[in-house]
Amino acid sequence: MSPFVLTRTLPEDATDAALRADVLKGLTSTPKTLPPKWFYDARGSELFEQITELPEYYPTRAEREILMDRAGEIAAATGARTLVELGSGSSRKTRYVIEALTGLHTYVPVDVSESALGQAGHALIAERPGLDVHALIADFTGGLSLPDTPGPRLVAFLGGTIGNLLPAERAAFLASVRALLAPGDALLLGTDLVKDEKVLVEAYDDAAGVTAAFNKNVLEVINRELGADFDPAAFEHVALWDTRSEWIEMRLRSRTAQTVKVPALDLAVDFAAGEEMRTEVSAKFRKEGMRAELSAAGLELAHWWTDGQGRFALSLSVAR
Ligand code: SAH
Ligand code: TRP
Repeated sequence: MSPFVLTRTLPEDATDAALRADVLKGLTSTPKTLPPKWFYDARGSELFEQITELPEYYPTRAEREILMDRAGEIAAATGARTLVELGSGSSRKTRYVIEALTGLHTYVPVDVSESALGQAGHALIAERPGLDVHALIADFTGGLSLPDTPGPRLVAFLGGTIGNLLPAERAAFLASVRALLAPGDALLLGTDLVKDEKVLVEAYDDAAGVTAAFNKNVLEVINRELGADFDPAAFEHVALWDTRSEWIEMRLRSRTAQTVKVPALDLAVDFAAGEEMRTEVSAKFRKEGMRAELSAAGLELAHWWTDGQGRFALSLSVAR
């Protein structure tokens, strides 16, 4: 096998059909919503990489600190020969784990962003000759089928991306991850933690406006793919902390009363002045809550590591 293989598990037009279905459902719901996975076209992936370097966006730095400190322990505890990473993006932080896993045979990055997978995959095989990289263009919420590679298997899900799933989706997702594992295999999970509201809100509403551009990029995707006429400047980025659900909610607020046309869906959508549309949640976690959610999915929390400032947690759980 060549060291870099890229497999599209979705037919090209499934992306289109799924986008249409999601946008139709979201724009005709009350309140309106837009589904988050469509943030990540090539431009969205690039904007997200910029977010990771913002002074306000602490999660990437905090998680990197933990990965650097704990890579050796993760390698010793799992002895993984196959590392599967869901929502792998640039795979940048994962490098610490890959380096520490001396017996690693195959790395399987899974992402909806083909551009991110291509860049990350080629960089990795250059750095680690002999490692098989089998990239999958796939939806991690959609029942993955993985290549047949040697165990033990470690599934990594970093960046706090699990917080972008709603609670019911999260439970289904954790059960589907458990189904990818044999008893004794492990899940390495990055979770952002509940903390001071100001710190949280600023992480999702930076002074330079990169997160605002990222949030509005979903409108550009819909314009391009479905021929819509969203004017991104006519929407304002909103990030707020929901105390009860303990999540950051990202919204786009219509600055004026306006009608947006989506020709591919034969749809005209009215927005009232000030009307808000939810685009993304980013849930924040606590240790005991996470332990319970993992346990309900058949995963036993074995390690819980945080950064020096206690902002972010990386957990290692073992399949029962
Ligand atoms: N793990 C990286 C990237 C996090 S951003 C980090 O920690 O920095 C979230 C990543 O998940 C993006 O690369 C995005 O393209 C991907 N993603 C989002 N929803 C997805 C889905 N449903 N299926 C597969 N990948 C998804
Ligand atoms: N997984 C990231 C997070 O929840 C994704 C993210 C960061 C994001 N900033 C965002 C998603 C802004 C939407 C809008 O932290």
